Amino acid sequence: MKSLQQVLNQSVQRITRDDEASKPAPRQCPHCGSLLEPTRVEIFGQVRWGTVTCPCETRAREALEAEKRQRDWLTLCQEFTSRNKLIPNATLGNYRERAGCGNAIKIANNFVDTYTEWKQEQPGLGLYFNGPNGLGKTHLLTGIYKALMSRNISAVFMTTYHMFQRFREVAKVEDYEYERRLLKVLYTCDVLLLDDVGGEVPYDSRAEKLLDVINTRSQKRPIIYSSNFTTQGLEQWMGNQGARIADRILENAITVTLNGESERGLINDRHHDWLAGRVKGIG
Ligand SMILES: Nc1ncnc2c1ncn2[C@@H]1O[C@H](COP(=O)(O)OP(=O)(O)OP(=O)(O)O)[C@@H](O)[C@H]1O
Ligand SMILES: [Mg+2]
Ligand SMILES: [Zn+2]
Repeated sequence: MKSLQQVLNQSVQRITRDDEASKPAPRQCPHCGSLLEPTRVEIFGQVRWGTVTCPCETRAREALEAEKRQRDWLTLCQEFTSRNKLIPNATLGNYRERAGCGNAIKIANNFVDTYTEWKQEQPGLGLYFNGPNGLGKTHLLTGIYKALMSRNISAVFMTTYHMFQRFREVAKVEDYEYERRLLKVLYTCDVLLLDDVGGEVPYDSRAEKLLDVINTRSQKRPIIYSSNFTTQGLEQWMGNQGARIADRILENAITVTLNGESERGLINDRHHDWLAGRVKGIG
């Protein structure tokens, strides 16, 4: 007669054999090829086999998730960009060098090409392109915006007018979710490009918004401005808050002055040449 111990041992062996028979084949990690043996888990006396994830599968999944988050973030930045104010075909590559604007294009190229170094050495330091109409300031900002976005650096291009308008819309409809997204974009995009500062004199409440954006980004993330005004001009133009705005801009951006003949003037000269070819005898 078998002892109780022998009976127990036999049944344990049978269970183990049955367990082994139900064990799934090991799977192979699609990344490094290692064989991943399933793990045995016992739940309420029943044996189950769990699949094992390779560390490189976890890393790959996390990388995919991060990539998706970055894509969504870039889409949000695009959503808030004043796309119809970008100059459609303008790039840094097709900005023609000409007298009075040579420094501006060199600096713009350097900013984009060595953005990581700028960020490390001078976090939050931006540029203030200023000069008369038609010298290609919006062209430069468009070029910088496109170059950064093509490198997956989150950039937002907004005319200052458009930014104020968005703040006004938010206040009117009390859409706090929209406001949250607007502020997230303005505060935390890698590079904010604000076109045509001083194009509109803001009421004090809007000037506060601009100051708030500048202060929040200060020493962290740069703003690149374009303006028809020097910072002194801006100070006078912007009314009560002018001095504070100009002061903050000077503290956080390098002024780059453009001068020379307006590109629009040159374009107009070409229109005249064309017209002279059609209409004979005009002086
Ligand atoms: N150096 C340049 N090379 C090529 N195109 C240029 C250059 N400068 C200006 N342009 C073109 O001339 C037009 C006017 O330029 P842009 O709008 O950038 O000027 P701006 O300085 O922003 O003027 P404003 O002060 O009126 O806003 C645009 O179509 C722009 O692409
Ligand atoms: Mg412009
Ligand atoms: Zn692996």
